[in-house]
Amino acid sequence: MTRSQIINTLIEHYGYKTYLEIGVNTPAQPGWNFDSVKIDLKHGVDPNEKVNADFKMTSDEFFEKQINMKYDVIFIDGLHLFEQVYKDIINSLKWLNENGTIIVHDTNPLLEKTQRRSHMPGPWHGDVWKAILKIRMEEAGISIYTVDTDEGCTVIQKGSQKLFEVENNQIDVYNFTFLNSHRKNVLNLITVKDFKKIMGINNPIKESLKHLKKKYYRGIIKKIYRKIKSPSGK
Ligand SMILES: C[S@@+](CC[C@H](N)C(=O)[O-])C[C@H]1O[C@@H](n2cnc3c(N)ncnc32)[C@H](O)[C@@H]1O
Repeated sequence: MTRSQIINTLIEHYGYKTYLEIGVNTPAQPGWNFDSVKIDLKHGVDPNEKVNADFKMTSDEFFEKQINMKYDVIFIDGLHLFEQVYKDIINSLKWLNENGTIIVHDTNPLLEKTQRRSHMPGPWHGDVWKAILKIRMEEAGISIYTVDTDEGCTVIQKGSQKLFEVENNQIDVYNFTFLNSHRKNVLNLITVKDFKKIMGINNPIKESLKHLKKKYYRGIIKKIYRKIKSPSGK
């Protein structure tokens, strides 16, 4: 599933109407998201001059001076640095409708080099994952899980979670080695299949195959039963 499909699934499931994207980029971005989102009202924030965003400014400027409504969905995909993403999440929680959803992109880096703080060409996740870890350790009043797809899509809603704890507080948790050995727990990682289950989506092809199989076996059982009842075939 792509990030756009995750977002659209949430929109459809909850009947959301309003959407904010932090970090929009241009259609040249692989799998560009903004145009694929199907919702009544969309706003984008991006300071890049080349980007056609509704608010040409940083997310900090937007949250400080420009924002004037709450949103159902906020997609965070701006500056990929720990402290910025953490700030974006905290600000978004303030401007999220009660039953709304925040999605954070690029939260599941598989290689040490793509999660470094210096921007690099090619896939760059930055240390976004550390913001998820901080939220997992400190914010009890949210529910949070990460769908293991499209570089990691973390879904945050108002609710409750069991905080992530480390037994030995001398350990440096903000370290890739730690992420690698505690990935499932740090990110509360779930599969796409699990996400679909949460969203109540069944695979229609699988469902109809199951139905056909049932029908087929029922037919065979009926034939055997008839044969036993009347072996001569009468
Ligand atoms: C990875 S791209 C966004 C991709 C887009 N969300 C998508 O899925 O197609 C990151 C964007 O964040 C923007 N950005 C960088 N710093 C930002 C900030 N402080 N606030 C908001 N956007 C920022 C960049 O200009 C860039 O266009």
